[in-house]
Amino acid sequence: MSDSGGQRRASWLAGLEARPKAELHLHLRGAIPRDYLRDRVRKCPPARALASAPPSQLAMLRRQPAIARILAARDPAEELDGLFRFDSLEQFLAAYFFTVFFVREIDDFRGLVVGVREHLRAQNITYAEVTVSIPEYLQQGLPLEGILDALGEDPPARPKVRWIVDLVRNYGPDAAEKLLERLLPLLPPTVVGLTLGGAEHLYPAGQFGRVYALAREGGLRATVHAGEALGPESVWHALDTLRVERIGHGVRAIEDPRLVSHLAERKIPLEICPTSNVRTGVYPSIAAHPVRELYEAGVPMSINTDDPTFFDISLAEELAGLRSLGFTTGEIDGLASGAFAFAFDAEAAA
Ligand code: HPA
Ligand code: ZN
Repeated sequence: MSDSGGQRRASWLAGLEARPKAELHLHLRGAIPRDYLRDRVRKCPPARALASAPPSQLAMLRRQPAIARILAARDPAEELDGLFRFDSLEQFLAAYFFTVFFVREIDDFRGLVVGVREHLRAQNITYAEVTVSIPEYLQQGLPLEGILDALGEDPPARPKVRWIVDLVRNYGPDAAEKLLERLLPLLPPTVVGLTLGGAEHLYPAGQFGRVYALAREGGLRATVHAGEALGPESVWHALDTLRVERIGHGVRAIEDPRLVSHLAERKIPLEICPTSNVRTGVYPSIAAHPVRELYEAGVPMSINTDDPTFFDISLAEELAGLRSLGFTTGEIDGLASGAFAFAFDAEAAA
């Protein structure tokens, strides 16, 4: 590469970093600042933090070597980096879940929200839809009213943050429905949508039809994690049974050409998180990721980081990484600006 080529590329990346951006798929705890987590772990050692976990959850967490090491360490805060090394979706989900045990008071939750806003601001993300796994915080004993108060704050400074409630499929469809019934009358206007994260292979999308019907009646916009752990049939269920407007991930739609055409024709956007899919083992490498094929087939998409602290990636880096798959700088600029149009808040770009 010539020097001038290298300089051009560096200034293009700097331009991506500086430009106002939208991010539609990232999880609140997935963006937990590492220092903040370390500080919480110092305040409450893991053995004590996990004392409240039901035995089945504790066993699941202990099966992950990184978590077992943290639990056994003399100075657990020093072992935390191991939490960010995993090679399957199951291991990642355990690491992600583990972090909730350090959000013990409503002030911890508020501190997390402040830290994530700062993470977004520093990247010039001016609009973000942040997914918040409500049942996990309730399991921690946080009061629902306090959580909703924190989510309802809408400071005038950028980023403009809108919230997507994750009912966490691992608690099952009945619990999801009950919680949603409780939530709907209380939600502040900053909460715009619904999703389901968690173990897709154990609780596939098709089981949650009633939950999504209820959400629709209650005025929530709808997306769901599908086509990540499971194949195209889960995306069909998301569309036909849940009637979602966007799909979280959805990348395994590529395995069904009829589905790819359907997404393109109906203009259903995918929330694509390339690094996440590689780090959790959905694809072995970025080179094997189908984002380019989906793009060429005309499937609308936004590019996202999903869990930036765990995957060690910024939104600008995620976008720039598409160059290696054959995207031109113009196409990448188009993806960055196009994300605003898929927002659930009609005034996202304002
Ligand atoms: N998939 C499912 N659940 C999640 C994810 C994900 O990528 N990130 C956080 N919770
Ligand atoms: Zn996600």
